Amino acid sequence: MLNIVVLISGGGSNLQALIDACKTEQLPINIKAVVSNRAAALGLERASKAQLDCAVVDHKKFSSRAVFDQALCDTIDPYQPDFIVLAGFMRMLTPLFINHYACRILNIHPSRLPAYKGLNTHQRVLDDGESKHGASVHVVTEALDDGPVILQSELNVLANETQSTLAQRILQTEHIILPLALRWLAEKRLFIRSNGQVEFDAHLLTEPIQMQF
Ligand code: GAR
Repeated sequence: MLNIVVLISGGGSNLQALIDACKTEQLPINIKAVVSNRAAALGLERASKAQLDCAVVDHKKFSSRAVFDQALCDTIDPYQPDFIVLAGFMRMLTPLFINHYACRILNIHPSRLPAYKGLNTHQRVLDDGESKHGASVHVVTEALDDGPVILQSELNVLANETQSTLAQRILQTEHIILPLALRWLAEKRLFIRSNGQVEFDAHLLTEPIQMQF
């Protein structure tokens, strides 16, 4: 069993996908706790319903990002997680946090990294007239949305697509690739080495594993 702590800020549909996969697909992970930086996050309701430990660390109550990150570490550490999963966690983390859990933080990001780092990815993809879009599960390093990509979804942007339809379709792919990456980690098919390199089935991963939708 892989012990994880999930960090959220909002709806928590990716968290729900993990909760559901544990129940229906025997995903071998143990969600030790869910931590949100927003008390009103819908994801906290999902966590409570699943009887998971929940905590709120409200970033507005801290004087700096570093002090907030220390409070996050203090909240997470008692759970002794193997991995931290950022599932729609919308705060930038400082090196203090990232180094504390070096090579043990995964993020789900709504683009085919390294394309479209940052925010508003769906609208930017539409504005640029891209024909393809997707989502990425990657290892978190100090630079934003920049760590090694493990697994990526890819789908065709439709002719009549809006920001909202695209976001919805991408989210559905996220609900597949995030549990899958965690399954591979839990089943020891995927390893993140201490130098940040990713190995899949004993092969160094130089390109992300792609899933077409
Ligand atoms: C997801 O689309 C996730 O990829 C994105 O926020 C959404 C959260 O949805 N994350 C980021 O943009 C991180 N930079 P959810 O709360 O329903 O899981």
